Amino acid sequence: LTARIHIDPSHAIAEVPRRLFGSFVEHLGRAVYTGVYEPSHPTADAGGFRQDVAALVAELGPTIVRYPGGNFVSGYRWEDGVGPVADRPTRLDAAWHSRETNEVGLHEFAGWASARGIELMQAVNLGTRGMAEAADLLEYSNHPSGTELSDRRRRNGADQPFGITVWCLGNEMDGPWQIGHRTAAEYGRIAAETGRLMKWIDPSIELVAAGSSNADMPTFGDWERTVLREAGDVIDHISVHAYYEEVDGDVASFLASGVALDAYIDDVARIIDEIAVETGSTKKIGIAVDEWNVWYQTRFNEVDKAPLFEGPWDARPRLLEDEYSVTDAVVVGSLLNSLIRHSDRVSMANLAQLVNVIAPIRSEPGGPAWRQTTFFPFQRAAAFARGSIVAASLEVEAVDGGRHGEVPAIDCVVTLDEQVVTVLVTNRSLDEAAEVTLAGLPTAVEVVSAETLTVPEGGDRHTSNTEAAPDAVGMVPLAARVDGGVVLVTLPPLSWSILR
Ligand code: AHR
Repeated sequence: LTARIHIDPSHAIAEVPRRLFGSFVEHLGRAVYTGVYEPSHPTADAGGFRQDVAALVAELGPTIVRYPGGNFVSGYRWEDGVGPVADRPTRLDAAWHSRETNEVGLHEFAGWASARGIELMQAVNLGTRGMAEAADLLEYSNHPSGTELSDRRRRNGADQPFGITVWCLGNEMDGPWQIGHRTAAEYGRIAAETGRLMKWIDPSIELVAAGSSNADMPTFGDWERTVLREAGDVIDHISVHAYYEEVDGDVASFLASGVALDAYIDDVARIIDEIAVETGSTKKIGIAVDEWNVWYQTRFNEVDKAPLFEGPWDARPRLLEDEYSVTDAVVVGSLLNSLIRHSDRVSMANLAQLVNVIAPIRSEPGGPAWRQTTFFPFQRAAAFARGSIVAASLEVEAVDGGRHGEVPAIDCVVTLDEQVVTVLVTNRSLDEAAEVTLAGLPTAVEVVSAETLTVPEGGDRHTSNTEAAPDAVGMVPLAARVDGGVVLVTLPPLSWSILR
């Protein structure tokens, strides 16, 4: 394979939003309990949070974290998670057939996030609950003092408001699996009225309306149109959820997932524009891809789900603990490329999730924590895809993208921050290296760093990082040379690389 990428650093397209590198912690499985929080762990701090996990989170670098769900939030009573821990009730979580002990709630999680400089993105329950409880939670969180709710927060230990800016109006309300699932019209109305009330209480907040749960939902498109017509004047973002997996060995389609995400985002952007024209609105509504990842969801739905729902109500069951391979990490890299490429329309994005549950970080109760393969593309992109995306044209042959048709063999996005050009590039070919020429850079160009994630020596595309071999897969140096103002680099087959 050969490819030529012509970069035009003088043509900035859009600033890369820092919120593009968000994550998600749901009260699900072991994401919270024995994930971020485990008071009996040898590394636990005074608040019971694991310092080994926190160190990996700091290294990963998420900028914003969505909390507390997910499907969980649609049955959650936020009041259960505040006040003295000893008085908090244990409840059934019908979304994940689990027992919620409420040891961690708003105060604990907000404190954990703020200590790490991570913005909190709070979801409200529009499943079993409605406007009143959403407004109460906002007043409790953001109002300074002098009301029953704000003073209750102060009595509970937070003298200063949490100052939460981004609020999700429910979760996946289009999905029949959702507690309190609604039609688009029903959801559009409740989202509009809840959002209006919330903005009267705190006009500084930003609201995310729930869009479609995936691009294959039968209601996709009509759902967005209805919600935007009803609530477009009050919301600031509309969500997209997008999970990808390799099904029945169809690796060609899987490796083309970035193309599918491109199309999904473009479709939602077109619908936003269409409704703006229809309603005469000039407001810029962002796309919040507030759940995205590789998730072996078919296996969960067909194999794991029935035993879970027929079994006991465990407090911290092992759920959705997908172990990620090299192939999965390359796909995550290409999904990141897609999000960055859409910096003009995607206002934020949340890798779902952070620890243990379909997560870049794994931890064992009482044991170690380690980086999954997918940790690396996220960490590098969050650290280095800064500044603006710049124009780049790509000449490369096509490869079979399975059900996505012919797709370019490599996929790239380029950012410019001060003097540093960063090229994030996926080679989708399973067996061919790609000889890539990067042109259009100043003649005095230097390569600051070049690294790739690919199949390690002695491994194969299924190799993953495990408790026994936590460092099997990682970023390795890539040889890149400068010749007459162009950069020449060979991308290994099945790889995601970053050059600066
Ligand atoms: O992230 C796991 C689940 O995926 C979330 O709870 C839900 O919103 C989505 O279906």
